[in-house]
Amino acid sequence: MITSVGHGPRTQGKHALLDSIVGREAGMMANPKARAHRLSFMVPFYTMLDLTAGDGLPTNSSEETSPMILCRHRERVHHAGVGCKVFLCERDKATFARLERQSGLAAHFVFGDARKTVTSLDSFAKPRTPIFIHADPNHVRDWPLSPSLLESLRRREWDQAEKRPTDRWYWTMLITMGFNVSGMKRLPVEARRPWEERIKELTDHLPYRHDALLVTLVNDPAQWAYLIVGPKCWGQAYRDDAQRAFCYWENGIEIISFREEETAFWQRVRELVYTKEELKEELTDHAQL
Ligand SMILES: C[S@@+](CC[C@H](N)C(=O)[O-])C[C@H]1O[C@@H](n2cnc3c(N)ncnc32)[C@H](O)[C@@H]1O
Repeated sequence: MITSVGHGPRTQGKHALLDSIVGREAGMMANPKARAHRLSFMVPFYTMLDLTAGDGLPTNSSEETSPMILCRHRERVHHAGVGCKVFLCERDKATFARLERQSGLAAHFVFGDARKTVTSLDSFAKPRTPIFIHADPNHVRDWPLSPSLLESLRRREWDQAEKRPTDRWYWTMLITMGFNVSGMKRLPVEARRPWEERIKELTDHLPYRHDALLVTLVNDPAQWAYLIVGPKCWGQAYRDDAQRAFCYWENGIEIISFREEETAFWQRVRELVYTKEELKEELTDHAQL
């Protein structure tokens, strides 16, 4: 069993998962048949947004970084003659300088807190285009999805032909969360509760044909968890991606669908956010009411 609370093995899995999810989307965009038959309702221009990019340089934990993965897939789409842009957001000055000057990546660099720099999709992508959003906050106070961005994700327009609302953008998302990295569960409950609130904010903004899959590594002391958000019909593909990405995790992974198992989903979120004692106390309080 792997018990270290370090980042190493999780980082590889996180990057493998990111690579699979973006690889599928980029593969479809790059394939003329898929574009003609499966994506004919979209405008063919693929946008990728990394809200917490880091410096884009490889480390001992992983030869890859999320900016490298996104830019590699951008190349593939670009070579197929389809428009594609990658936006890399980073708020730390020194980290941003390394990202911009040393990474050598073909991307658009956005300096500042993503909650202020990415407040709507309007500035980054045209309507009816596919968009992938990556968020990898180290702590809940770093959560980069602003309420106005979530609002813009939910915006709909009426589809005359099909007589139903259609999503304005065809977006998918991967969020990485560490609930007990460096023993963060020792922090006061007030510092942890916002995780639950942020996840609720996100699920409140899901378009009707999207699901959020909560992926957790079983018996992981650092309690890493991943939220994959995308069309319900890709659920099995996402499950396969996650199983492959974390196949080295000997205890296995657990995947819970927000749409299909909402009670279990929130139960798992609460187990990640709160300590066993806090959950027990809450149960006792409820019983006494
Ligand atoms: C976990 S690291 C990123 C690792 C990178 N995603 C990867 O996989 O290679 C998180 C980075 O996001 C930046 N960051 C955290 N919160 C941010 C925010 N709200 N807006 C922009 N950048 C943020 C931090 O400065 C840090 O460099």
